[in-house]
Amino acid sequence: MQKRVLVTGGAGYIGSHVVRQLGEAGYDVVVYDNCSTGNASAVLYGELITGDLADIERLYQTFARNKFSAVLHFAASLIAPESVVHPLDYYANNTRNTLNLLRVCETFRVNQLIFSSTAAVYGEPQQNPVTEETPTVPINPYGRSKLMSEWLIQDQSRASNLRYVILRYFNVAGADPLGRIGQMNPNATHLIRAACDAAIGRKPGVRIFGTDFPTPDGTGIRDYIHVEDLASAHISALRYLEAGNASQVLNCGYGQGYSVREVIECVKAISGVDFAVLESERRLGDPACVTASGKKIREVLGWAPEYNDLDTIVRNALFWEIQRDINIVKHPLVSAIARRLRQSITLPKSLDIKLRQQGHVQRAVFHNLF
Ligand SMILES: NC(=O)c1ccc[n+]([C@@H]2O[C@H](COP(=O)([O-])OP(=O)(O)OC[C@H]3O[C@@H](n4cnc5c(N)ncnc54)[C@H](O)[C@@H]3O)[C@@H](O)[C@H]2O)c1
Repeated sequence: MQKRVLVTGGAGYIGSHVVRQLGEAGYDVVVYDNCSTGNASAVLYGELITGDLADIERLYQTFARNKFSAVLHFAASLIAPESVVHPLDYYANNTRNTLNLLRVCETFRVNQLIFSSTAAVYGEPQQNPVTEETPTVPINPYGRSKLMSEWLIQDQSRASNLRYVILRYFNVAGADPLGRIGQMNPNATHLIRAACDAAIGRKPGVRIFGTDFPTPDGTGIRDYIHVEDLASAHISALRYLEAGNASQVLNCGYGQGYSVREVIECVKAISGVDFAVLESERRLGDPACVTASGKKIREVLGWAPEYNDLDTIVRNALFWEIQRDINIVKHPLVSAIARRLRQSITLPKSLDIKLRQQGHVQRAVFHNLF
């Protein structure tokens, strides 16, 4: 029988990629999302219930109508500087709503939970790579609201049959390699998205915050994980829980850092566009370097990434940004970028084989789009 799973925030950037992979893996998916930053069109599998996690009645109804074997909890607010200005909104949406979800899970005896946490729980780590044992010292309400959610989950697990996998994501980037879904939030502030926007002329340029960090080129270093690999880590985590294994906290990153300048150079090289770069002061609380130790997740889940190089992440992100916007596709500058992308893009072997086995036409669509 098909297993039915609930995905909160499944209309969002990361959740929608996980929903797609769950659907492809044969799960029956129900998405619960208020579409505040997510988009109904990103839900490619299952049913979308438009609802807010603060609405306990609706949550109860959703659980009463469905027999869920597991919950994957993505729904949250996630802009760190915004959390400094509106801390209560962050504690409400992230921490209190996780509590709501846990209550309903308890009532309906749903005992498997995968939770989207973040490297922000580590704050400004003194050592890299960051392991799961690195002290958690979040420096803003966003990180604290997520760490408090982790504590809620862990305490509830100690007191009940709940088992969980908490995944602490590092910097998530890229898009579905076939260009069906990707980052859609117009307010997203991620570097790769910002640089792609600059390359295709959607923004006048890109800003570097801080050029005097103690790093080789003076700019901040981060660990970028392809959203497709992150999504497959969730499928592995779900299978791990389904096999009856014990709860875990796992970092999600490659253990490889790239500086802001390196990312910008990569976007320039792939797009062929020398867009403007503005250098400005460091932002408060931005650490110089944060990279993940990816050892534990590989050992515990047997997860192996397939898209772990910056080039692929940038190509897929750029492709998504171009083809989702019909006005931009027609622009001569963007057509030139698209031609460059078409020439050099390669699909990972496993995806290529999978698509051929399925007699998929999308691969052809992908190459002939422009
Ligand atoms: N994007 C990253 O780089 C990153 C890094 C670390 C952790 N995370 C975590 O990953 C998760 C998903 O992030 P994302 O990048 O996909 O963000 P997103 O904003 O695209 O997705 C969040 C989704 O949750 C929904 N949502 C928000 N509040 C809700 C509520 N009260 N009720 C119902 N739905 C609600 C939104 O509409 C959206 O669809 C978040 O928990 C975030 O903290 C993201």
